[in-house]
Amino acid sequence: MPTLWHGRFEDGPSDELLAFTASLPFDRRLAEDDLAGSRAHVGGLARAGVLTTEEADTVVAALDRVGEELAADGLTFVASDEDVHTAIERRVTELAGEPGAKLHTGRSRNDQVATAMRLYTRRALSTVAGCVVDLQSTLLDLAEDAGGAYLPGYTHLQRAQPVLLAHHLLAHGWALARDVDRLLATRRRANVSPLGAGALAGSSLALDPAATAHELDFDGAFDNSLDAVSDRDFVAEALFDLALLGVHLSRIGEEVVLWSTAEFGFLDLDEGYSTGSSMLPQKKNPDIAELARGKAGRLIGHLTGVLVTLKGLPLAYNRDLQEDKEPLFDAVDQVTLALSALRGLLATARFRTGRMQDAADSPEGAAVDLAEHLVAGGLPFREAHALVGGLVRDAVERRVPLVDLVAGHPALGAGAAELLEPGVAVTRRTTAGGAGPAPVAHQRTAFRERLEADRRRLGASPT
Ligand code: ARG
Repeated sequence: MPTLWHGRFEDGPSDELLAFTASLPFDRRLAEDDLAGSRAHVGGLARAGVLTTEEADTVVAALDRVGEELAADGLTFVASDEDVHTAIERRVTELAGEPGAKLHTGRSRNDQVATAMRLYTRRALSTVAGCVVDLQSTLLDLAEDAGGAYLPGYTHLQRAQPVLLAHHLLAHGWALARDVDRLLATRRRANVSPLGAGALAGSSLALDPAATAHELDFDGAFDNSLDAVSDRDFVAEALFDLALLGVHLSRIGEEVVLWSTAEFGFLDLDEGYSTGSSMLPQKKNPDIAELARGKAGRLIGHLTGVLVTLKGLPLAYNRDLQEDKEPLFDAVDQVTLALSALRGLLATARFRTGRMQDAADSPEGAAVDLAEHLVAGGLPFREAHALVGGLVRDAVERRVPLVDLVAGHPALGAGAAELLEPGVAVTRRTTAGGAGPAPVAHQRTAFRERLEADRRRLGASPT
């Protein structure tokens, strides 16, 4: 098969050139998007009078046929198929003859690949956002099932104050809500058509980029052809969104790892979502959670790799841009897999709320409530803090229960000691957005409404 540039060259490409520059092994994923862009381009060529209606019909029928062959794995690639765009054009020309040879009029692979990448990216962003919403609804279900269960909240990984389990679960849910928002915002910026920019400068033919943009459900067409073929901001943004989402999943993963240790004992993983050991018969390991944590490194690497590729590029298209694909495709795949694996892990895990509550009921967890009790009596907080801190130190050093010291203290007494009773401290967090039952009930409703709104936003978006 001749190359797309055989007229200019006497010799064919070397094996090394083909091996090093080919992108077909990974850009086959863009086939459907290339076909969609090509159909729109054929429409534009017909409107510009470059193709007769009959020729346009012939080329569209050939594109449809290539789509069927691809779906049935029946498209045979040849050595000179450097990328999926070349392969599709070659096959269309084989099927349609001369009208097929007109398909590339007024078009370059530069605007063609940018168009296909944007179509892919906007669809992938919607799909990932949908998977995030699914994980959020699992977190909401768990938060609803958790009822009044509570556990220690930590700062510096030291027990700080008791919090409702629902509050802890929804904390992750809200971080994911920001991810959904970011994914949808990136999709909006990606949803601009570069088709019609040509190699870099547009065309002498009567092509109308706005019309093909409309046909492809883009929000509009490019303003500057040089920018249109060299812009990969949408890839970098998508990679950032996926990297940050990956960081959120990593943090959930880390907590699952901690919580499922014998030392914490807060979580019992379902066997279907745990692994055993090849040597140690007793092991039950949280590999999904560890990989959710580990993949974040790879996702951050993809983002930095693409940014470095972009940073030195002069306008307009440079072949370096081909390096945008593997990182994005891999990031989308890995995040999608992680989302559904974590979702299954969480949905099937047993939350050992007895263990959580035992850990949260240590009287020190109510130390700030004692101080605030003194504040209510008129003592400045700094003094109250020092008084309670002294009692805690005393209790630790003399190995006396804190509750006895509190009950016997003239400024505190039996009423204050009640604050140290199991389950009391968590009920005292009443401020909006706080960890107690009343704000958490409110939060569950707000979170549910946010999820429903996001589902509607996703349903309304083009894919
Ligand atoms: N496979 C190429 C890419 O992904 C397509 C564009 C090639 N354009 C060119 N002028 N060589 O970027």
